[in-house]
Amino acid sequence: MSERFITSTLNRKDEEVEKTLRPQSFSAFPGQNKVKERMEVYVNAAKRRNEPLGHLLLSGPPGLGKTTLAYIVANEKGCGIKTSSGPVIERPGDLAGLLTSLNEGDVLFIDEIHRLNTAVEEYLYSAMEDFFIDIMIDQGPGARSVRLNIPHFTLLGATTRQGLLSAPLRSRFELSLRLDYYSPEDLQTIVLRSADILKVQIEPRGAFEIARRSRGTPRIANNLLRWTRDYAQVKADGVISDKIASKALFMLDIDDCGLDEMDKRILETIIANFKGGPVGLNSLSVAIGEEADTIEDVYEPYLIQEGYMMRTAQGRLVTEKAWKLFGLTPHTRHPRGAGNGQPDLL
Ligand SMILES: Nc1ncnc2c1ncn2[C@@H]1O[C@H](COP(=O)(O)OP(=O)(O)O)[C@@H](O)[C@H]1O
Ligand SMILES: [Mg+2]
Repeated sequence: MSERFITSTLNRKDEEVEKTLRPQSFSAFPGQNKVKERMEVYVNAAKRRNEPLGHLLLSGPPGLGKTTLAYIVANEKGCGIKTSSGPVIERPGDLAGLLTSLNEGDVLFIDEIHRLNTAVEEYLYSAMEDFFIDIMIDQGPGARSVRLNIPHFTLLGATTRQGLLSAPLRSRFELSLRLDYYSPEDLQTIVLRSADILKVQIEPRGAFEIARRSRGTPRIANNLLRWTRDYAQVKADGVISDKIASKALFMLDIDDCGLDEMDKRILETIIANFKGGPVGLNSLSVAIGEEADTIEDVYEPYLIQEGYMMRTAQGRLVTEKAWKLFGLTPHTRHPRGAGNGQPDLL
């Protein structure tokens, strides 16, 4: 239980704090240079032509800045923004309400757009393409459809799962951009910036220590900064040095490689229970007690990027780097289970 608690603390979304830490412009947003440059060109071109922006899709793991970029786009374009999310828009009527509340040129931000239900999604097609929706009024013999014209708006969709978007929806976005994990250097800049806003005293090396152990994710870096600040105030003189940061993170069981409790649990379970894999996502999910979606969206992408595991047609497989992390090789037995990566030939 306590392990789960710690992991969820790191990924925790605290709307109030996040709002204060959100950069308002492209120039105040460190990292994601490719994405940022393309968005800037896109926004500036539309501005110059005095046209609404084309529909835009942002994808990538949680906490990398999708929502932040949506607000920046509206800010830089100088238009209004309304926000909602896939699971909240339950019926076509909810969507109609949202769309008709927009002004010409506004951004409609739909978070978790892969979770829109099909009925709503179909209404979205004509809205995106021709800026109208046909709404059914009444039921039975009196049923008729009424066409509602809606303002030229920009749909800005965000998703952690691009692959789950239907092809017709995906094809209606003019531009699709994918966010990647941040480098430790970019995260260091973010930590220093956040520390400045929160009036936390921090040394550059302290910021780097937090940065390199934040799983490439600004949300986690900001949360770890706040934890480290508390630690520094209680256990030291309030200044975050690299030593203090290291001790504070050690207390959260975040190791030197920046893997958190759940990352390690996933790797260890594949080794101890499944002999290093391959193991199917659902079996892994049951063994760990975490939802398959969460494993796939939140944990796996980082573990794969860092070379700890692979996704194969047969299932998930850990690499030698993962065995080494626990002081094991594929030939040694894991103390917790029957794990032995090699078939028993002898
Ligand atoms: N490039 C960045 N620079 C500074 N802060 C960032 C950056 N990207 C994200 N953040 C911060 O991280 C937190 C999570 O960002 P958010 O946009 O909500 O992520 P997502 O929508 O992708 O889950 C916010 O507090 C945000 O201010
Ligand atoms: Mg978001």
